[in-house]
Amino acid sequence: MPINIAIDGPVGAGKSTISDAVAARLGILHLDTGAMYRAVGLYMLRGGIDPQDESRVSAALPQVNITVNYVNGKQQTVLNGEDVTDLIRTGEVSAAASAASKWPEVRRKMVSAQQRIASEADILLDGRDIGTRVLREAPVKIYLTADAEERARRRYVQNLENGDTTPYEKVLEELRKRDEQDMNRETDPLRQAEDAILVDTTGMTFEESVEAIIAVVRNAYGTC
Ligand code: DC
Repeated sequence: MPINIAIDGPVGAGKSTISDAVAARLGILHLDTGAMYRAVGLYMLRGGIDPQDESRVSAALPQVNITVNYVNGKQQTVLNGEDVTDLIRTGEVSAAASAASKWPEVRRKMVSAQQRIASEADILLDGRDIGTRVLREAPVKIYLTADAEERARRRYVQNLENGDTTPYEKVLEELRKRDEQDMNRETDPLRQAEDAILVDTTGMTFEESVEAIIAVVRNAYGTC
């Protein structure tokens, strides 16, 4: 059985960067499952398909082929043969991904792709439904969160570093909108799995967050 670690949590909890660091420390791969939903969102945007329109999204889905490659341990997200890793990081794609990800057919397709990837490698998956759906049997499940204001502040600072000057209030508003959408959809909404360990990073440094997760992994796998 490969090592499987499930990390879930809301937007801006630091899942991606913390997961990257934890996976690097453990010498395993990291699958950012949000990137796959983002690639679906990008496909819909490019095709002029409203991601809120379930029947159009479902009809387009057979034409959407998403795979991931690892180059020097880093995930590359590939949409129909095109490397879209950097193109899926816009606010527009975030919103489209959040909307498209509520449709059961989209979720079914992504979940089975993710389960296949996880069965083939020692890997940490981060997302919204990893502990509750994708890897229900994972020996390590973490629910990573922080206060909404703290998450928005981190996102705001990260945006500024990337030259995006969206005001803090707007970042907070969009984050709340995505939380609302991700936590209240009918199919596999974001929630803490019963057997997940809560790690609240409000007031924690990045290193402290990484250490907290490594401690949980060590406890479960007895190594690292
Ligand atoms: O983690 P992220 O912000 O890159 O994810 C983008 C969107 O994809 C997010 O709003 C909800 C959706 N998502 C999901 O529904 N299930 C996952 N496992 C990962 C992401």
